[in-house]
Amino acid sequence: MVVLPLRHHCYITALLSSTTLLLLLYFQNSVLVFTYGSYGFVSERSPCACHTCVADRGNSNWFSERYDPNVPLLLNSTNSVLNANVSRWWNELQSDAGNYAEVVDQVFSLFPDKEHYSDTGSDRCRTCAVVGNSGNLLGSNYGPLIDFHDFVIRINKGPSKGYEKDVGSKTTHRIVYPESAIDLDNSTHLVLLPFKILDIQWLISAFTTKNITQTYVQVPSTIKADKDKVMILHPEFIRYVYDNWAERHGRYPSTGFLTLIFALHICDEVNVFGFGATSGGKWHHYFDKTLSYENSVHGGTFENETIHRLLQENKILIHKGWT
Ligand SMILES: *[C@@H]1O[C@H](CO)[C@@H](O)[C@H](O)[C@H]1NC(C)=O
Ligand SMILES: *[C@@H]1O[C@H](CO)[C@@H](O)[C@H](O)[C@H]1NC(C)=O
Ligand SMILES: *[C@@H]1O[C@H](CO)[C@@H](O)[C@H](O)[C@H]1NC(C)=O
Ligand SMILES: *[C@@H]1O[C@H](CO)[C@@H](O)[C@H](O)[C@H]1NC(C)=O
Ligand SMILES: *[C@@H]1O[C@H](CO)[C@@H](O)[C@H](O)[C@H]1NC(C)=O
Repeated sequence: MVVLPLRHHCYITALLSSTTLLLLLYFQNSVLVFTYGSYGFVSERSPCACHTCVADRGNSNWFSERYDPNVPLLLNSTNSVLNANVSRWWNELQSDAGNYAEVVDQVFSLFPDKEHYSDTGSDRCRTCAVVGNSGNLLGSNYGPLIDFHDFVIRINKGPSKGYEKDVGSKTTHRIVYPESAIDLDNSTHLVLLPFKILDIQWLISAFTTKNITQTYVQVPSTIKADKDKVMILHPEFIRYVYDNWAERHGRYPSTGFLTLIFALHICDEVNVFGFGATSGGKWHHYFDKTLSYENSVHGGTFENETIHRLLQENKILIHKGWT
């Protein structure tokens, strides 16, 4: 028999008991996870690789009641048939509804018809900056911080040229409708927000015949953009944002609000810039004096409350600027 010197003996006992302790802790944690898990509070794997994940529905009831991970985001040829409710609502928003089925056929012979952003998973950490057009961006020096994100999503005409220091220079996505469209560079996805069928017809025309020059106002007959990066928001997504997030305030959601909710669905971490008023209470764009706040068509006050609730629930960060 080997007699261990006393010191060794103590060492081994200590080692064994600390192993036991670790095992105990390990089991205790498993039991905890198991218990929470069976109540549906914690999913076993984190939904993404970031520190906190937007899609983690375990940490906010308010959020999970509203967030539908299965809503169609972008229109494609297999999901283009609209359910009756969506179709009725969407048609009521427009005065002169064209032939939707025909337009959809045409659109996917021209633009990519594939599924995007289905790569959600425990090893993805996609950070996004949603950049609104508020005057509070002026003097913010947010440019480098904004450009640091994987996706930089801009809205309507908000330019970066000449404002790089405050708004950055990178644009991966720009959400527009015909009346707000501008030329894009070839690294930017044009994301059309179709408030009406004519908007999709305009998109087709802009890349082909260029003969649509008028909606309810004059619109550009064509724009520069990479045809292979064109995307169209799904009308059902617009309706979902209106129902679940704007809770039917206003007639339809604002572009900024739709863009923010879109980001919640394609990103793991969402940082918001250029939303809201300046600290002096002014609601103008950073690039002109146009008022950027409406409470009539859009439920502006309610949208603002929802955005602040998303902040409270740790789903987004809001960078307010200084001015
Ligand atoms: C359409 O709306 C009605 C009433 O809001 C609802 O009961 C019904 O389930 C909806 N149908 C679909 C297909 O969403
Ligand atoms: C269209 O999008 C749906 C999700 O809305 C997806 O399940 C389907 O695979 C997509 N179809 C094509 C052709 O990419
Ligand atoms: C994209 O634009 C840049 C600068 O205008 C140009 O140098 C580059 O060749 C373009 N790339 C493609 C794929 O068109
Ligand atoms: C544009 O041209 C297409 C094809 O030539 C034609 O079908 C369509 O009616 C024209 N639209 C307008 C607004 O002129
Ligand atoms: C938006 O909501 C925040 C938080 O409730 C509030 O402090 C702010 O005054 C609101 N802004 C407007 C314009 O309603």
